[in-house]
Amino acid sequence: MMAMETVRCGLLAALLALGALCGAQPVKFKDCGSAAGKIIIVDITPCPSLPCVLRKGQSYAVNVTFSSKTSSQTSLAAVHGIVSGIPIPFNIPNDDGCKSGIQCPIRNNQNYHYINSLPVKMEYPSIKLVVEWELKDENDKDIFCWRIPVQISS
Ligand SMILES: *[C@@H]1O[C@H](CO)[C@@H](O)[C@H](O)[C@H]1NC(C)=O
Repeated sequence: MMAMETVRCGLLAALLALGALCGAQPVKFKDCGSAAGKIIIVDITPCPSLPCVLRKGQSYAVNVTFSSKTSSQTSLAAVHGIVSGIPIPFNIPNDDGCKSGIQCPIRNNQNYHYINSLPVKMEYPSIKLVVEWELKDENDKDIFCWRIPVQISS
């Protein structure tokens, strides 16, 4: 009995360690017009393959590494779910980029990590859609804009 338990715990620990190692998962994204910046990496965790399977009631970690091509006092995120070509606003806990891992003012030619989360509400329908995530500068220009396909699932 004791040995079995030990094996089980060992296995669990190994799996957890592996999970932590594979924590950051760069995903293939489409650039949708990052005029005021350049996207370097988009990490969604967990999202081992595309489309990202987003389970209802879970929250997904978002980490966007980008370089800025603008200087800006502010940065504001806008997230949309595009369903059949129609963008529907997605609520995120905090749309202020300056409170999402970015130290403002944003300076030209600097690299930043934008850190946020994407909560998937229970009431979302189980459909395939495209998530579009923009970060806008003080002139309403996109510092970054990326799109990835997702599948919402229960
Ligand atoms: C975000 O991603 C960058 C580049 O992969 C990494 O260096 C950084 O530690 C990540 N930050 C967080 C909070 O995960």
